Amino acid sequence: MCGIVAYVGRQTARGILLEGLKRLEYRGYDSSGIAILNSGPPYLAKAVGKVSHLEDRVEEEAPEGLIGIAHTRWATHGRPTETNAHPHTDCSGRIFLVHNGIIENYQRLKKHLSASGHQFRTETDTEVLTHLIESFYQGDLETAVQRALQEVQGTYGLAVIHGDHPQEIIVARRGSPIVLGIGKDESLAASDVSALAQHTDQVVYLEDNEVARLEPGGFRIKTLDNRTVSREAQILEAGPEAMDRGPYPHFMLKEIFEQPEAVENALRGRLNHSEGVAKLGGLESVMDRLEKARHLIIVSCGTSYYAGLYARYVFETLTDLTVETELASEFRYRKLNIRQNTVVLAISQSGETADTLAALREAKRKGALVLGLVNVVGSTIARETHAGVYSHAGIEIGVASTKSFISQLTILVLIALLIGRGRDLSYEEGEKLLRGLEEAPDQIREVLAQSDHIRSLAQIYCGASHFLYIGRKYQYPVALEGALKLKEISYIHAEGYAAGEMKHGPIALIDPSFPTVALAPEDSSYDKIISNIQEIRAREGPVIAVTTQGNTRIRSMVDHIIETPRNHSILMPLLTVVPLQLFAYHCAVLRGCDVDKPRNLAKSVTVE
Ligand code: G6P
Repeated sequence: MCGIVAYVGRQTARGILLEGLKRLEYRGYDSSGIAILNSGPPYLAKAVGKVSHLEDRVEEEAPEGLIGIAHTRWATHGRPTETNAHPHTDCSGRIFLVHNGIIENYQRLKKHLSASGHQFRTETDTEVLTHLIESFYQGDLETAVQRALQEVQGTYGLAVIHGDHPQEIIVARRGSPIVLGIGKDESLAASDVSALAQHTDQVVYLEDNEVARLEPGGFRIKTLDNRTVSREAQILEAGPEAMDRGPYPHFMLKEIFEQPEAVENALRGRLNHSEGVAKLGGLESVMDRLEKARHLIIVSCGTSYYAGLYARYVFETLTDLTVETELASEFRYRKLNIRQNTVVLAISQSGETADTLAALREAKRKGALVLGLVNVVGSTIARETHAGVYSHAGIEIGVASTKSFISQLTILVLIALLIGRGRDLSYEEGEKLLRGLEEAPDQIREVLAQSDHIRSLAQIYCGASHFLYIGRKYQYPVALEGALKLKEISYIHAEGYAAGEMKHGPIALIDPSFPTVALAPEDSSYDKIISNIQEIRAREGPVIAVTTQGNTRIRSMVDHIIETPRNHSILMPLLTVVPLQLFAYHCAVLRGCDVDKPRNLAKSVTVE
């Protein structure tokens, strides 16, 4: 969602800030803005739509100045207009502020500030912060920010500058990430490391309720109640090249093609063949509680939720746990029975999804052991869980998740193996799965090699208005994920269904203009899905089947097939999801859609 970048140093700020905003575009936004301090009046520019609109204006006006803040806004309170875009200012026009998150008590604060004479210009919750800081300002910006934030309920990651302090940026966080970048004679801050990686590999993650003061020569961190915090910079894992598309036209395609390595990275150092089990160092500290666990509740959103649905089948097969998978946003509305022996597993690529975070906090409060399966190292969910496993999928820029999903599936199998082998699961079964996992990367490469064939299918079908995706058991979450990918990036309406539910509704829609993608690898539910395919064909619905190599029987029953290599039926989703990602990608490109930045969507959903 919204993005922040801030710079103070010896270089002209505007190019660095604009470059940072472009690096943050992938997160989703609808307007942007920039404020720069220089010897004259402060410079402020805003634009609706693409960062390039802002860039054109700023480049033309070429403001000088060695300090500034910039923002991409994803509208929550107030329409996406120039007025509502950040940075916001106070009445004096000296304070400039950018903010991610939501100020929950802004109406009460606004009423109070208006009564004491503050003039509001925007529809946003954020503007209240500028006036609140102004009301506390007595010459020291840091103190004013600390005091203002003590009045605030809600979430924020923010950066503030003041015309009277041209060497200083104040940043703060509660619930919305802020990372500092420490360079030579320059300091930066951003909501996401991707905006910093071009400048420095020395980063410092701010914790909740901390405020940092950045100057060209360094930084210092305090808590909101003014206690000094000492924290060393750490080296950024991913270099700047991870943020480049390389030879690929889109990040999404690059990330789809990175999936064999994503699985290899998820497996690296985690397989113990002599015992047919997984080694997961991040879970060692909680093994005694895991051994006693009886119930597993998985919470997540979006694609990560579908990984959780897959995990339900896998854990039920490999362990004796009772498993529930719940949408994080619904978790709080259910009266789930959380006991001493309940484990809650939060799955999140970004580690910042607000609903998932809220769910894990609630589970912790109720006494559950809370684990995380997270991609972004050092993210909030990673830090707030008792223990967990990192995906190590590398930075994912495409808004539609691809390589993170496949690495989540891989690691979920490893976690299930670890728990299962401590219970009834045999060595043979464990070892079979480990071998299957090791074969998966090369098999994914074979599927990727069919990209042109899948593109030719997209050419036939990209004009369709609706699509149905069906699958059973392990393939049911894949059907849901395939449909999600298509609607997210190509805006074609698509529904994923458990194939057995076909006759309870969707079959009414089937006609020659309504294509179905059927997930039909030759596994234990193959015969049943074939019956569903026949029912669709009987109603003249076109069918694309994803099946296993050498399955000649299916050819006469469907219009097109996409073949995948064979693996253990539990692991087939690692192969069958890949053509669905490619199909969605090619349809989106053929329809002229902005694949990496689909409309209205955000990479990381940091508001509930
Ligand atoms: C957004 C993204 C999805 C992602 C979901 C959950 O909707 O666009 O790709 O699956 O959030 O995000 P998380 O980071 O928690 O996995």
